Amino acid sequence: MVIKMIDIHTHILPNIDDGAKDVAEALKMTEYLEEQGVETAVCTPHFDSTKISLEEFIGKREKAFLAIKDSKITLISGSETLYHDFLYQYSDLTPICINNSKYLLLELPYKEVISEYEFQSITKFMNLFNIIPVIAHIERYDCLWKNKKNIRRLMNLGCLIQVNANTIIDTKKRKRAVKYIKKGLIDLIGSDCHNMTKRPPNLKDAFVIIEEELGTSYCDLLNENADSIVNGIILRATTVRFI
Ligand SMILES: [Fe+2]
Repeated sequence: MVIKMIDIHTHILPNIDDGAKDVAEALKMTEYLEEQGVETAVCTPHFDSTKISLEEFIGKREKAFLAIKDSKITLISGSETLYHDFLYQYSDLTPICINNSKYLLLELPYKEVISEYEFQSITKFMNLFNIIPVIAHIERYDCLWKNKKNIRRLMNLGCLIQVNANTIIDTKKRKRAVKYIKKGLIDLIGSDCHNMTKRPPNLKDAFVIIEEELGTSYCDLLNENADSIVNGIILRATTVRFI
C-alpha cells in the first residue's frame, strides 16, 4: 500500500460551505484522514462567484483555516470553483488555486452535451488567467465520463482529470473508473469528503481497490501526480501561454 497519500479534494474547512458543520467535525475528518495514512489534504471549499466575492471568500477561508490550526495533517489552501462568466471580473485567480499554484480545481456547469463553445471557453479561461484546471469529479458529467474523446480533448488542452474515491468504491461505477485509470484518463483521486456521516473521507478505501485491481504502481502514479500539484509542478504539456 502507498506510504504517503494526498487528498486533493476535501470540504474539511468548517462553516464555509456544505462541508464540515463545525470545528469538531472538521478536526474529526482530519484525524480520520491521518488514520488512513493521508499526510496532506487540500481544502477546497466551494467558490461560486455569483454568490460571494473573491475577497469575501478568501476572508472566510482564512478564518476557517485558523479555526482548525490544530489539525494533525498538513492542510493546503484551494477551492472548488464553479466555472462562470462572473469569474472574468477578476484579474487574478491564483489565491483560489491549489497552494497558490497554477492549478485550480474547477467544477463545470452540468450540461448534457459539451459543445465546441465550451471547449473554447475553457481554453480562453486557461490562457487569460494563466491557470490549469483540475476538472473536479469528471464522473458527474455524462458527456465527458461516457465519451473518452472528450476527456482526451480536455487532457490535450492541459487540464487534469479528478475522480472521487466513491466512484472507485461503488461496485457499479468501479469498472469504468479502473479502466480509465489504466488507460491514463484519470490523473487524480480525491475523497471530496463533506462530513463524517454520508460523505466521509474515504481515500484509502479507493486506493486499496486500485492496488488490488491494477497494482501498486498505479497508486504511486496517482499520488505522485497529487504531490506534483501541491508543489506546483507542471505535469503535462498545456495550451496555457505562461507569462
Ligand atoms: Fe467537492
